[in-house]
Amino acid sequence: MIRLDHTYFSRRLTDLRRRFESGRRPFPNFYGRLMAKAHNTALFIREWVHSPGTIGAICASSRQLSAAMAGQVPKGDGLVIELGAGTGMVTQALLDQGISPTRLIVIERSNGFVEHLRHRFPGLTIIHGDAACLSELIPQGLHIDAIISSLPLRSLPYELREKVVAQWEQVLDHDSALIQFTYDIRPQTHTCACDHTFTVTDSQIVWANLPPARVLHAQLMPDR
Ligand SMILES: C[S@@+](CC[C@H](N)C(=O)[O-])C[C@H]1O[C@@H](n2cnc3c(N)ncnc32)[C@H](O)[C@@H]1O
Repeated sequence: MIRLDHTYFSRRLTDLRRRFESGRRPFPNFYGRLMAKAHNTALFIREWVHSPGTIGAICASSRQLSAAMAGQVPKGDGLVIELGAGTGMVTQALLDQGISPTRLIVIERSNGFVEHLRHRFPGLTIIHGDAACLSELIPQGLHIDAIISSLPLRSLPYELREKVVAQWEQVLDHDSALIQFTYDIRPQTHTCACDHTFTVTDSQIVWANLPPARVLHAQLMPDR
């Protein structure tokens, strides 16, 4: 346990002074995290200004939202497909959750985000592509444990959204999970943009996000 007495503070001050004098940063972890956050925010704003409809959010997903999404991925050894990874907040949460990089395939349509993701996660499979062509982008014949989607379903053009949902129906099995977040936090029956194909089996609101969001866990309807 740290004793917050005079000796402790004087040691910390001496340490900080030495770091300043040697040219090292006083709070390397804090500084690194701050710079990464500033970079992510700037990137997000740039992409949003470029095409607000396909970004569909005013800022990147919070750590809490990302962790809530990653926490819904079932245990298994099948593929985990992340759609619309943006700055990589959910990608990081999936890795933190222990999802093996060999199971994870990330698909993102924006060029700027893809460059950033490849730089941030050099060992991961990052595919520059459209979720509406999902079945052509992923390996055939492998079981998919989960699709984890940050796609802005409600702000995408109707036809594109229909194509995306049709792809999910094509590639997922009945025991696969579809994890999607929505800013519509009303009760879950109103919130799934693909009501006729998937049924919501679980949902939770994450307040610590701007704006608060609901994480939906859905599965293919038995008759699909
Ligand atoms: C709400 S943002 C993602 C936020 C992300 N979770 C983060 O924290 O940065 C939606 C993302 O979906 C991507 N996107 C939109 N339409 C897409 C499509 N048809 N295929 C693949 N990605 C798409 C956008 O480029 C954007 O990165």
